[in-house]
Amino acid sequence: MNTRAVASQVIFDVMEHKKSLTNVLNIHAQKVAPSDLGLLKEISYGLIRTFSFYNDVADKLISKKPKGKSKIIFYVILVGLYQLNETRIPNHAAISETVNAAKSLKFASLKNFVNAILRRFSREKEQILSSMQTKYYNHPAWLTEAIKKDYINWEEIIDNNNNKPPFWIRINTGKIEVDSYLDLLDTKKIQYLRHPSIKTAILIQNAVKVSELPLFNDGFCSVQDAAAQLAANLLNLKSNDRVLDCCAAPGGKSAHILESVSNINLTCVDNDSKRIIKIKENFSRIGVDANIICADVANLDNDELINSKFNKILADVPCSAIGVIRRHPDIKWLRKKEDIPNLVHTQMKILNNVWSLLEDNGLLIYSTCSILKDENEDQVSKFVAKNKNAKLIQTIQILPGEEQMDGFFYAVIKKEPIK
Ligand SMILES: C[S@@+](CC[C@H](N)C(=O)[O-])C[C@H]1O[C@@H](n2cnc3c(N)ncnc32)[C@H](O)[C@@H]1O
Repeated sequence: MNTRAVASQVIFDVMEHKKSLTNVLNIHAQKVAPSDLGLLKEISYGLIRTFSFYNDVADKLISKKPKGKSKIIFYVILVGLYQLNETRIPNHAAISETVNAAKSLKFASLKNFVNAILRRFSREKEQILSSMQTKYYNHPAWLTEAIKKDYINWEEIIDNNNNKPPFWIRINTGKIEVDSYLDLLDTKKIQYLRHPSIKTAILIQNAVKVSELPLFNDGFCSVQDAAAQLAANLLNLKSNDRVLDCCAAPGGKSAHILESVSNINLTCVDNDSKRIIKIKENFSRIGVDANIICADVANLDNDELINSKFNKILADVPCSAIGVIRRHPDIKWLRKKEDIPNLVHTQMKILNNVWSLLEDNGLLIYSTCSILKDENEDQVSKFVAKNKNAKLIQTIQILPGEEQMDGFFYAVIKKEPIK
């Protein structure tokens, strides 16, 4: 199928049907030639990152927006505008392929309409762009306000959210020394940077496929942002620790825990059975194992869990994911303001429940990939104020783009024995 038509469908599904970009791309990717997959992704991610801007450009060019069944044609036009302004595709090719997209979507009668708009943009581009407002945040107003409320440098955070994310991997030190793996990258002429303090975190600078990373299929490395690699480090793991990862799927941090130190007794819990399959797939590639339980830790009624005690707990709770917008730009448009209080409520229920499973002198790591204080600092302050045996050891808020990492929050809380 025409790649521009598929890109229009992808963006239509995200913006109109509020579907996840990753899921929609997985479904639609099969419709394009493998050689066009890169272009499909570039247009889809790019347009979702810059949606407000191209929506306004289109408004300047279209007097009557296509409605009803033909609404998809508005998205075809956005795809055309994006190519004309952001890619090196020659204008004539961008226009003719986009016009063909209208035909391929069975709107041949609107071909001339699409053609006229795109040709006008290519002719009057400078004039049209100079008439646009000077700054586009490309975030919904409520989210800009929420970030503004919490941070003085909110504009920098928003700009970073709109950047493309870097490619981080985690070296599996259970299988290979970091330096030996870096030698393998050198041999393959893959360029990299080391994180200044997280020794397993390596930033890959070439555009390589995951399968081209040395010994990836044998579990010698995994794709994981450097910020996410702090979780296992903060747990201060020792052999024979009994660790609970209570929101574990797809198992990235769990796998890191098992790779870090041998003889860890790990229990992984998640309430989503489909995502539990992902934990098992990840573990099988890496060659690690744990006790995996499908259970709801917000309403703890699993007997095995209720009767267990752990000396380390990782609560990587469900969150707004506002810290990982550069990786998942659709979050900006799918997340709603009213989701935040609901998430905060669930996070607190999870914290309270797993606290009862932690031994005295045990360590709880609370983490989110959010930057909103309601989900992070304020949440932890409330928890510590209510639980006299909770001692807050440390909090870390990483902002998106800081040392090229995703936005992440960690709180390290110790359970003091009650005297
Ligand atoms: C941020 S993700 C965890 C990512 C994971 N720690 C990793 O590093 O790969 C949060 C997870 O919590 C799970 N979850 C959400 N609500 C839950 C609940 N009430 N009980 C257990 N798991 C829950 C979700 O299914 C999701 O997999």
